[in-house]
Amino acid sequence: MERIKQHAIWGHKGTFVLAATGSAVGLGNIWKFPYITGENGGGAFVLMYLVFIALIGVPVMIAEVTLGRHGRANPVASVQKMAQQSRVSLGWGAIGWLGVTTAFLILSYYSVIAGWALDYMSTAIQGGFSGWDGEQASAAFEALQADPWRLMIWQTLFIGMTVLVVAFGVIRGLETAVRVLMPLLFLLLLLLLMYAAVAGEFARGLSFMFSFNPGDLSWEAASVALGHAFFTLSLAMGAIMAYGSYMPGRASIGKMVLTVAFLDTLVALVAGLAMFPIVFATPGLSPSEGPGLMFVSLPVAFGNMPVGVLFGAAFFILVTLAAWSSTISLLEPCVAYLTERFGWRRLSANVVIAGSAWLLGIGSVLSFNLWKEVKPLLGLTVFGLLDSATQQVMLPLGGLAMAVFVGWIAKREVLRRELRQESDGQFALWLLLLKYVCPPALLLILAGSFWA
Ligand code: PFF
Repeated sequence: MERIKQHAIWGHKGTFVLAATGSAVGLGNIWKFPYITGENGGGAFVLMYLVFIALIGVPVMIAEVTLGRHGRANPVASVQKMAQQSRVSLGWGAIGWLGVTTAFLILSYYSVIAGWALDYMSTAIQGGFSGWDGEQASAAFEALQADPWRLMIWQTLFIGMTVLVVAFGVIRGLETAVRVLMPLLFLLLLLLLMYAAVAGEFARGLSFMFSFNPGDLSWEAASVALGHAFFTLSLAMGAIMAYGSYMPGRASIGKMVLTVAFLDTLVALVAGLAMFPIVFATPGLSPSEGPGLMFVSLPVAFGNMPVGVLFGAAFFILVTLAAWSSTISLLEPCVAYLTERFGWRRLSANVVIAGSAWLLGIGSVLSFNLWKEVKPLLGLTVFGLLDSATQQVMLPLGGLAMAVFVGWIAKREVLRRELRQESDGQFALWLLLLKYVCPPALLLILAGSFWA
């Protein structure tokens, strides 16, 4: 059995919702969701994503929080505690291991993208977007990608910011960040949406995101949508389990999870609706722009709207903060594991993990320039490989293992006790989805994307 140290509990019932929302809402919603929607054809992709969030993401998230709160320890030990009480092998702790490893890999490239947001923040503050058209925006984005040193400086700064918070206490900083800054970010997105409605091709954007064309359904798109549903809810990487482990016993897990999933999805949809109308109205930009979509579409809007300097700067500051509250939750489970299992000091664990993630992140930095043509596997760059391996393989695999473990192996009475605030009907519905819907759907999509 893993060694368990005294584990803190959050003072406030609502802190879990705040912290989990801080973890969930990040680059995944604002940067990634719009661009993968653009690459995968729009409406059909959005529909799959919404179905996956509701039928797979939410039940798995409830399972993950339940494991964390019951275990009251780091992800590996939490799973092991449930295994022990259910009288099965402690080997199930591998689920926690897989999660912590995935968190580490994601941290490495997520910090690089967050670095792009920092760079744009500095350009915005200097009024640098003024009058930009599509061509200028694309050229500026390409110039940033081509400069490894510039990318590395921002990546380093961003990882440093994350270490600072995780080393000196997550809770206070996180609470303020989420309570004040998340609503501000959302407000800004709404303003952008209004701007897009007036100045962009709103009807085209709307129809792109919500008109369903069965021809756009594919295994590849399903696998990307599923991986993203996990990514955006911060599932299967220990983050939500670690936050669940700090959750007081009297809070209703189901209600909290539904709140987080709703807010997360709302932010993604609003971000997409704000970007596509601008993309359609700007010559030279296309929805399938790829990872640069946010970085080319929004500066065009900021550069041409009244008080765009202020809005632009505020937007990129808030995006950076949203990414920050996500990386904090990626680093936290890794640190919790090393400190509780091996008795490492918090600061040493932090520096070692973040330092290694920084080193690996350099591979992603170089994927956009010097190593653009270096494709170690499957024709993918280091960044592409890390992104696909985590999102399309490790996250669904972790989700599958968790659904099987909690749905089929864990003792029902233990689960019921942890989910005591839920009614019998709600509990039965959750278990039904976890046992009979999640595993076959996850297996099917995992297998389908391998063969496709
Ligand atoms: N959910 C975050 C996002 O959508 O940006 C990304 C993320 C954060 C993934 C934390 C994983 C995680 F543990």
